[in-house]
Amino acid sequence: MGASALSEKRVLLIVGGGIAAYKALELIRLLRKAGVGVRPILTAAGAQFVTPLSLSALAEDKVYSELFSLTDEAEMGHIELSRSADLVVVAPATADLMAKAANGLAGDLAATTLLATDKPVLMAPAMNVRMWEHAATQRNLATLRADGVVFVGPDEGAMACGEYGAGRMAEPPAIFAAIMAALGRGGPLEGKRAVITAGPTAEPIDPVRLITNRSSGKQGYAIAQALAALGADVTLVSGPTALAAPAGVRRVEVETACQMLAACESALPADIAVCVAAVADWRPQNLQGSKIKKGADGPPALGLVENPDILATLSKSNRRPKLVVGFAAETDDVEANAAAKLARKGCDWIVANDVGQGGTLGGDDNAVAIVTSEGIERWDRMAKGEVARRLAARIAQEFQ
Ligand code: CTP
Repeated sequence: MGASALSEKRVLLIVGGGIAAYKALELIRLLRKAGVGVRPILTAAGAQFVTPLSLSALAEDKVYSELFSLTDEAEMGHIELSRSADLVVVAPATADLMAKAANGLAGDLAATTLLATDKPVLMAPAMNVRMWEHAATQRNLATLRADGVVFVGPDEGAMACGEYGAGRMAEPPAIFAAIMAALGRGGPLEGKRAVITAGPTAEPIDPVRLITNRSSGKQGYAIAQALAALGADVTLVSGPTALAAPAGVRRVEVETACQMLAACESALPADIAVCVAAVADWRPQNLQGSKIKKGADGPPALGLVENPDILATLSKSNRRPKLVVGFAAETDDVEANAAAKLARKGCDWIVANDVGQGGTLGGDDNAVAIVTSEGIERWDRMAKGEVARRLAARIAQEFQ
């Protein structure tokens, strides 16, 4: 698979019958946005909850629903259909579909496809908590796992039937992330280890006060996910953020710059390091064990010491990853400053982002330039997810 081949990846999506079927629409939208092809199979029960028209409009493909339907079979036989994708996803995976797949039944198109496929299968179960906890379903789950089926969810929560418990289908972003990770197996970065830093660091002044930076973590998390989607074994060392860990990525949560550096060093050896974190440049010299009280003496003087530079330390390490990439948030002379930073930090590439344009910090898109010893590549403003995928593809090229 080439570096750009993610856009040629195809998912066969079986939509079972359950109230969660509506979430399949959002899942298709996420997959299409990431350039992944989606071919839906809608079960008869699924068609009670979503229409073939909405699935096919979002998937931009035909919806298959019946075994031995003359029109469906004329276009693509069911065996071929089951092999036309890189991954088969069942969302929602009902108790009925799980039971059929676990027992090798082949009475309808969805079940036949699951029996005939030679591709990896990912299931997102959705059912009432009692059905989920029933010994029969748990037996089927164990059988399917032993057969190599990967599961995402179910989540715990309030159910459409008014009960509470495990059985809610995982949210579309979580299923999407699991799909991207599954598609990455056998990808161009298979066998490569990557360490990504993301988010801010938080340096405590006392038990209630912090020095921190503005950073949502979105760009770093997107890069971790994009590298995993190409098959890399990813450790994401993250400062405090509101984001969920992308599926298929090992997340190590830290607070301070010193903890972040230690976590990166223990993730070595690695082939790739991408430092996206907005590390606080300084930390208070003395951490106060108890809360500093406001007093008559006015504000306390904060003595600061410089934090370790994680990017520079990794770049100069005797266990230096083969490719070290840093980020630079610049407001002026973006490219000249980035080139200087490249030399100063000793990394291979600097991804310069122009935060002066507004909207980048905390926003969903980013305008970047890639600065290397060979020159500068300017990329148009695009979604952070797209920046991440292009960067991951560019990194994969470097390892070909
Ligand atoms: N970085 C790091 N550890 C630090 C500071 C920065 O790993 N203690 C990394 C960031 O993750 C980013 C790159 O270094 O990849 C650039 O950080 P930046 O703060 O822009 O650079 P500085 O060296 O602080 O330079 P300046 O503040 O002068 O722009």
